[in-house]
Amino acid sequence: MTSMTATTDRPTASAATPGEAPAGRDHAAYLELVGRLDLATKVRLLTGATSFTLHGEESIGLAPMAFSDGPTGVRGLKFTGGDHVALFPSATVLASAWSEETAHEVGEMLAEEAERQQIHVVLGPTINLHRTPLGGRLFEAYSEDPLLTGKLAAAYVRGLQGRGIGACLKHLVANESETLRNYMNSVVSETALREVYLLPFEIAVQDADAWSIMAAYNDINGVAATEQNHVNNTVVKGDWGWDGLLMSDWFATKTSAPAALGGLDLVMPGPDGPWGEALVADVESGAVHESVIDEHVVRLLRLAERVGALGSTDEQRVWPTESLAPDAPARRAQLRRLATDGMVVLKNAGGILPLAATGPDSGAGTAGDARAGTVALIGRHGIDTICMGGGSATVNPPYQVSIAEGLEAAIGDRLLVVDGVEVRDRAVVAEPSAITDPETGEPGLRVAYLDAEGVVMASEHSSVASIVTGWDDVLPRPTEQVVLTARLTGSGPVRLGVLGTGTWTIDLDGERVGSAELVAEGFDPGESMLKPPVWTIDTDATTTTDDEGTREGALVTATVTVVRSEPQPGPDGKLSTLSHVIASGMGMKGLVVSPVPAPASEVLESVTAAAASADVAVVVVGLTEEQETEATDKSTLALLGDQDAMVSAVAAAASRTVVVVNASTPVLMPWFDEVDAVLVVGLPGQEGGHAVADALLGVREPAGRLVTSWPSADEAAPAWEVVPDGLTLEYTDGTFVGYRGFAAGHAPAPAHWLGAGDGYGAWTYGAARLLEGGSGAPSVEVTVANSSTHDSREVVQVYLRPDTEDQPVRLVGFAPVQVAAGSEATVTVDTDARLWRRWDEAANAWGEPLTGGTLLVARGLGDVQAELPLA
Ligand code: BGC
Repeated sequence: MTSMTATTDRPTASAATPGEAPAGRDHAAYLELVGRLDLATKVRLLTGATSFTLHGEESIGLAPMAFSDGPTGVRGLKFTGGDHVALFPSATVLASAWSEETAHEVGEMLAEEAERQQIHVVLGPTINLHRTPLGGRLFEAYSEDPLLTGKLAAAYVRGLQGRGIGACLKHLVANESETLRNYMNSVVSETALREVYLLPFEIAVQDADAWSIMAAYNDINGVAATEQNHVNNTVVKGDWGWDGLLMSDWFATKTSAPAALGGLDLVMPGPDGPWGEALVADVESGAVHESVIDEHVVRLLRLAERVGALGSTDEQRVWPTESLAPDAPARRAQLRRLATDGMVVLKNAGGILPLAATGPDSGAGTAGDARAGTVALIGRHGIDTICMGGGSATVNPPYQVSIAEGLEAAIGDRLLVVDGVEVRDRAVVAEPSAITDPETGEPGLRVAYLDAEGVVMASEHSSVASIVTGWDDVLPRPTEQVVLTARLTGSGPVRLGVLGTGTWTIDLDGERVGSAELVAEGFDPGESMLKPPVWTIDTDATTTTDDEGTREGALVTATVTVVRSEPQPGPDGKLSTLSHVIASGMGMKGLVVSPVPAPASEVLESVTAAAASADVAVVVVGLTEEQETEATDKSTLALLGDQDAMVSAVAAAASRTVVVVNASTPVLMPWFDEVDAVLVVGLPGQEGGHAVADALLGVREPAGRLVTSWPSADEAAPAWEVVPDGLTLEYTDGTFVGYRGFAAGHAPAPAHWLGAGDGYGAWTYGAARLLEGGSGAPSVEVTVANSSTHDSREVVQVYLRPDTEDQPVRLVGFAPVQVAAGSEATVTVDTDARLWRRWDEAANAWGEPLTGGTLLVARGLGDVQAELPLA
């Protein structure tokens, strides 16, 4: 149990057969159902029942629905420590395949994961754009480009909904950074909204009919996303004719009548929130017409029908009794393939990659050299590979393969693994293998929840070293204290600590080693959940042997008293749901157990020696889930600590150096010219290490292309700032987002453009020609020849460069193609007419579409292969 477990009864039976869109009732039939309910019952349905479930209503055949994050796995109903579920590569990795087919397959796989857990709606895809490279949550979203984002989102939605599981496009809209996300105001022109930020939502609605959307935390042009009559009612439900359900982001709804009138259909989570009695009173006072409530309920019922949660028992969804386990061989193979497909080769001097896959004899070292074929794998990310980002996209996977494990399985004793410099500046919770539950001996720890009288309300095993307090919906009384106890599996020097808000004491074998008063930063409940404060101490742990000769690890007892306070107004001066959530003491609590880090000088010495001793040095650097996470942004693109110095030291000592970048979003690479090859592997999911080994050894081609331009330096980007001024963040880049702004000279040329990536092929483009497109936009036909000795995958990209300077260059179409070594293929790229549209602010309508300009056939704008003038 944690306080976030849902206890609702689950429906067992579906109208929708997977693969078939349910027929649905007409509007009048839904209204007839709604008409059977009284006002209080209707309003009750419009706030969640628990953190991730909704109320059912037997009298009209409505079963309680279950939602789950999303988007890189289906976590289930618990925020931490839930069942093992498959961990997918992060969205940026999946998007780097530039493949609608891949996105569709991912949607289908997620549907299977959802079915196994009886989840009706997966909270994804995240389709905000990579506006500034500092955005903490970019790893969860696809790209800086709206067309690529929209097309992939639509394919993902089709994959998911084709099996009767709802998708939820998030977060509507202009939620491109995290700093003060609950209070900040994104100031965006209507043109940029329509042409750029709303476009992925529009594509996913038009092309795939997404069944739900999530309204963001932020304000847009001074109005909260949850109250955005203009965006929600006028554009999305009006102009687009969308008939799905609009839910709030978690705790985002701040008001009753303005949100209900502003197009929000459902407040999440529950059971409490700003609607309930307040909304009933609004209707009774005439502030909200009851028909508005009825329309919200109609949309809820329509979603329920689509996911098989409405109707008589035999009309409702029947969940499959058998499903693919998250660690089944077939699932492993899929995740491994998807990860490699999204890895990006940014440099491959002299074709050093792929490395020789077998035996020393085929190694590239000089014959007779003892180093021939040996690989030194260097760096913390090689051993402790970061396979997922932080925040609500986190899941509890059955395992995560490190790069060291992946390479070990592939090349065995040709591999030397060496730890590198520190990559974090904060401690993280203990690996479950570092601790055991003193009562059961299982990996993990024991958690006891105490009430105000010190009575233990629950004591349970946790397989992970963190839990969440503050939502006490399954405990008889509010939790006052939590006691975490664990035995250490190791002995000797250890970094011990705790994480989470509250008043802590920490004892080791009955001796007090410290106490701490930990307070969350900022005004976002997300910060105490997702970036909780930490306290640590370096100490010594000894193993004892009892009378029977059994060895026992040192016993750690960490006790936290939950601090509750009076709700305080946020930085916007308002007392809101968030104020109450923060005051409730909600947050993550965890135990830290980690090795005491060695000094950097010592580490640099050992990595240099290892690099010199091998045929090839593979050095792994990257970000961690503390930088690629929710509720907080980055402040630099530089790698943390001494990682850059480590790469330079390795490059100077090694005969050949390959750098593997274990990060999903741009980082600076000051050593780029010093190394032979650079492979960006992103956050590659549970099969990460195997997939990296496949990529390095050429078992499968790392065929990805960047989904975002990588700046050459901090601040050298068309949009950089993530800290609102006051509470305002101006989208000053307008429609010149990312590569569009770089191409217009709004920032120094990027180090690498959107669309860049070499794979293992070598490409020559033939002449390109224009074809009449069926959809009103032209198609481009081009022949691409792969002159390499590797079968390879190319992504043909077509950009429109308008004639007028006030219009940015933009991606208008793309098509991946697999071509055998020494062969060629003719590719037709359809372009999308929506990219020719122009918003006319004066007329407040779409104006005349663009005419003229030039189509560029390019491998990213840094490598244009052909130009086709348009008449
Ligand atoms: C995130 C959403 C997520 C929700 C539920 C929020 O903090 O912004 O993307 O779906 O939590 O976990």
